[in-house]
Amino acid sequence: MGAVVSTVEGRVALVTGASSGIGTATAQALAAGGAKLALASRRADDVGIDGALARPCDVRRPEQIEALVAEAAERFGGIDIVVANAGVGAYGDFLDLDPEYLEEMIDTNVKGLLYTVRAALPHLLDSDSADLVVVASVAGQRGPEGEAVYSASKFAQVGFMRSLDHELYRRGVRCSTIAPGGVHTEFAMGRGRTPQDPDLADMMRPQEVADAVVHAVTRPRTHRVLEATILPMSDDSMN
Ligand SMILES: NC(=O)c1ccc[n+]([C@@H]2O[C@H](COP(=O)([O-])OP(=O)(O)OC[C@H]3O[C@@H](n4cnc5c(N)ncnc54)[C@H](OP(=O)(O)O)[C@@H]3O)[C@@H](O)[C@H]2O)c1
Repeated sequence: MGAVVSTVEGRVALVTGASSGIGTATAQALAAGGAKLALASRRADDVGIDGALARPCDVRRPEQIEALVAEAAERFGGIDIVVANAGVGAYGDFLDLDPEYLEEMIDTNVKGLLYTVRAALPHLLDSDSADLVVVASVAGQRGPEGEAVYSASKFAQVGFMRSLDHELYRRGVRCSTIAPGGVHTEFAMGRGRTPQDPDLADMMRPQEVADAVVHAVTRPRTHRVLEATILPMSDDSMN
């Protein structure tokens, strides 16, 4: 096992889906702790982080995430933390779902995650403080009504991480899955959520999920957070 690391100071972090919501909050929290950031999103927003490497990157395009990973490793001398957070959602009864949304959710949430990890893992294996964190969802642990395809995509993420942990923990790469309930972001807006949705007020803030990510990657290297479910206090769906 690598050295004891309990901060993010000086570590290099790649965050996908960094241009909005949970990804922005996570990137900013890691930067505040002294990490060096590579940021992936189609908008290529650097979200105000000085020195961040932000490039237009669609995680559905393996060559784009591979190029960003290569540039980040070259510029910063490696990659220690990957937060695979990019994701999309659309809600509604299965047969009513726009077929384009089906493709987008599976391509982004499932294949986008696999492409991200395939590109970045060699660098994590070279790091002595490696953490791979996926922002999945409680929809990947149970099947909420009206979320059949989204839930399928999130179960795939959870299954991938549960299996990957077996092959990586002995090699010093910690696999952590963060599974939030509702978070007030741009997520699924116009695709099952609206800005007027009364449930938004009771949802978590993106910073609260970012806190959970930072918690996972700053554990002493004696243990790992495999899966953390975090729910708003208004959510009794796991009771
Ligand atoms: N909000 C919730 O209630 C909730 C609950 C549980 C889990 N989650 C999960 O949390 C993650 C972040 O969601 P959020 O709530 O922060 O939503 P958000 O505000 O809509 O942010 C989604 C992010 O993903 C990026 N993204 C989407 N498609 C992409 C692609 N093909 N390539 C690269 N980046 C892409 C978006 O950037 P661009 O548009 O610039 O590409 C954006 O930065 C998602 O995986 C979501 O499933 C959300």
